[in-house]
Formats: sequence, structure tokens, C-alpha cells
Amino acid sequence: MRIGVLTGGGDCPGLNPAIRGVVFRAMDYNDEVIGFEEGWKGPLESITRPLDLNSVDEIIDRGGTILFTSRTNPFAIKDGPERVIENLKRLGIDALIAIGGDDTLGVAAKLYKLGVKVVGVPKTMDNDLSGTDYTFGFDTSVTVAIDALSRLRDTARSHKRIIVLEVMGRHAGWVALFTGIAGGADWVLIPEEKPDFDAMCAHLRKDFKRKGYALVVVSEGTELPLDAESEVDQFGHKLLQKRGVGDFVARLIKEKLNIPTRSAVIGHIQRGGAPTLFDRMLGSRTGVKAVDMIHNGEFGKMAALVGNRIDAVPLEEATGKPKVVSEEWLDLLKVFLK
Ligand code: F6P
Repeated sequence: MRIGVLTGGGDCPGLNPAIRGVVFRAMDYNDEVIGFEEGWKGPLESITRPLDLNSVDEIIDRGGTILFTSRTNPFAIKDGPERVIENLKRLGIDALIAIGGDDTLGVAAKLYKLGVKVVGVPKTMDNDLSGTDYTFGFDTSVTVAIDALSRLRDTARSHKRIIVLEVMGRHAGWVALFTGIAGGADWVLIPEEKPDFDAMCAHLRKDFKRKGYALVVVSEGTELPLDAESEVDQFGHKLLQKRGVGDFVARLIKEKLNIPTRSAVIGHIQRGGAPTLFDRMLGSRTGVKAVDMIHNGEFGKMAALVGNRIDAVPLEEATGKPKVVSEEWLDLLKVFLK
């Protein structure tokens, strides 16, 4: 078979292990693998490169994606889907593997309905995809964020300050929640919960009195009176980093408590670097499974982590509704806010 593969949406650690998994597994079937560059722009404009053992053998520990990525949406471009279908046919692609988050897999689901033989591999540092327990990218991002938080703890303690760390996560608070729990923050703000600033300040005052500093983690998508005009991508998403959530929360704390407060934003630093063990294994396993799914004719599905197995789950499950932080997780967080 001739298999196409692309990576779309924001890059994240684990993409290269997934591409590598695809190529290694394809070799077992004597398949040929064609990489499409820059997400959906690849099949839209026929930007391809062959992928073989030499191109993927040494990429297990590399962040980002060797195939490049973009937030191109063929359905937002005139004749986009028709051009993708036509190019896949012309290039002799028997099946396509789309590695991406909600947007990339949303395009895959629509193309599947138009007859394209496509399977998905879920990824996103936000961990907000339904139908899969975890996505690769998330574990590495939170690992970076907890490292940042422990560095901030040193400065907060030395200067007797409150420090606010802003993390990514778009409309789901998984990154902030896990960073807060695993990094030992004193308060966490996430998009799923309306901020209670009085409760937060009362708690921080108490913590500051007890230990002389405090740490807050805030997710970029937290509900705040901040939404000015903002740039949007082809899927209609605002660039949330420009909202200045961390700064806003730091100023509010300073005003209410009169305690020296600073904020730090780790931004795209949390999306790069070598993938953790978890992300390397998840990327490798889902890449391998995607090729098996093609040979089993399981199209319109993605290779998802369900418990400790990689299963074929309908793309619609992933793209219908984002997976957001539930009450149960919030209850766990609250255990650690003493
Ligand atoms: O979806 C991944 C993500 O990192 C979000 O957490 C963040 O809001 C967004 O991408 C940033 O997008 P960009 O890299 O285009 O600025």
C-alpha cells in the first residue's frame, strides 16, 4: 500500500515517535510511506516527501515534527476538500493517517464522509480530546510546567512573594490542574470553573502568613473580563496567550493583598523539548496501531488510549465535544488546597 501521513495543529512532543511508529510498522507490511508537509496544506498543495527507515530511525527523542505543521483548514478554503481528494488520488495514496487534535481530526472526519480512507492519531498538549484517556504531548508539557513552578518556588520563597504561573490549555484546564497538583501550587484557576477571587485571596493570605510565599497556576483560557479583539486562526480559535491572564491575576492579588506579586508565562516553552517516556511510548504505540487499522479496514477511526490498550475509536467521538475537567478532578485538587 501507499500510505500518506501528516501532522496538523500545534506541534507537541510525541509527534516524531508517532511518525516513526507509522514507518516502522509499514515496513512490516512492505508498505510505502509518503509524508505530507505542513498539516493539511500538504495534501492541499501536494507537498510531499518519502519517509523510510533512515528518515525516522533517530527521531524518537526529538520534539516538534519532522513533517512540519500548520493550522490549515481545507474546509475554509475554496474547493479545498475537492483539491485534497484529487491530489490524494493523483499521488496514488491508498490511505491517509492524520495525526492531530480536534481540528485536524475534525477535517479527517469530514473527509472520511466524502469517501477518503483516513485514520487518525490523537495528539495535543491540552489533553482535551474525547475518546482517548490521554494524548501525547500532555505529559511532556506538564513536566516542563512543574519544573517551571519549582524554579518559581525558589524565587517566591527567597523574595517573600506570590508568583503566578500562566500555562496553556486553550479551553480545558488539564495542564493547569496537573501542574497545580503535581507541582504543589497554592491555588489553581481553570476555564471550567468561574474564578472566586475572594476565596483565592483569603487562601493566599493564609498561605503567605504561614510560609512567607505562595504559588498560583492559571490556565490561559480562564474566564476573566479580558476579551479584547484578537487574531483568530482558520479554525476560528483566538490566540489566548495575548489575553495576559497571568498578569491580570497577579495585579489583582497585589491590589487586594498588598503583597509583592509577579507573574510568569511559559508559553511555547511547554510545547518543545524531548518527549517524556510516556509520550514516546504513546506516540509509538498509536503510530503502529494506525497502520494496523488501515490493514484491518478500520477507517474513520483513531488509535486511542483506552485504559492501557490502544483501540480503534470513531473519529466522531474525538471531535464531537472536548474533554474538559470534571467535578471529580476538581475535588482531587481541593484536597491539596489547605
Ligand atoms: O492547542 C495547543 C495550544 O498550545 C494551546 O494550548 C494554545 O492555546 C495554542 O495551541 C497556541 O497556539 P499557537 O501555537 O498557534 O500560538
